[in-house]
Amino acid sequence: MSAFRGLRDDVYRRPLATALDRIELGEGWTCVDVGAGGGEVSIALAEVVGATGRIFAVDNDPASRDEVAAQAAKFAQVFAITQAGEELSLPMPVDLAFCRFLLLHVVDPARVLKKMAAALKPGGSLVVQEPITSAGRINGTPFSYPEARHPDIGAFLPALVRDAGLEVVDAWAEAPAGAGKGPVANYLEELTGVDPGDDAIVLPPLVTVVARKSNR
Ligand SMILES: C[S@@+](CC[C@H](N)C(=O)[O-])C[C@H]1O[C@@H](n2cnc3c(N)ncnc32)[C@H](O)[C@@H]1O
Repeated sequence: MSAFRGLRDDVYRRPLATALDRIELGEGWTCVDVGAGGGEVSIALAEVVGATGRIFAVDNDPASRDEVAAQAAKFAQVFAITQAGEELSLPMPVDLAFCRFLLLHVVDPARVLKKMAAALKPGGSLVVQEPITSAGRINGTPFSYPEARHPDIGAFLPALVRDAGLEVVDAWAEAPAGAGKGPVANYLEELTGVDPGDDAIVLPPLVTVVARKSNR
């Protein structure tokens, strides 16, 4: 049923697949992935938009550009750019502006969202995915993430997107959960460096907002 079936199996990828289904991402789309990191999502987008599409993988860390260039070597439609989201400026307007696990780290999330909205074509789509860190639980104890500037920004995401001048089409929160060995424990161990053993885990809910820019 979904063109994004492969995305659905991995931790935190199910809400991405749902959002991409929802906007009907397809061949030939032009997209920007802001705060692209290693380019995992940029590559997933590149597979869907195909050779006639274009993906700008933007990150303020130059190491990301090298990593994306290496990971996406076989995708000529992926362009890795070193740029801060606050100064987002692309060679052309895009059909989709996307970010995941970015806004919790930036100084001014509202400014980044406004830049992403400005990068869209009229009628273009925005998909943003950010966590509510403190709503995650390990053995019933809330997560904390003191290094993040806005660890609970997911709780404000629909309002921030609305305030960036876009129409919110859909918004929801989704949290992978597990106990003992499995993808959720592996993810947590990768993130924290600590093996959670048999502990019950609810990862921080990821709030996804799907929005649209007006046609006018
Ligand atoms: C937690 S990683 C998320 C990577 C990827 N979006 C994902 O979901 O797998 C956050 C990324 O945002 C980048 N970043 C942080 N602040 C940024 C900013 N102001 N502008 C652009 N990128 C930024 C970091 O360099 C890092 O690669």
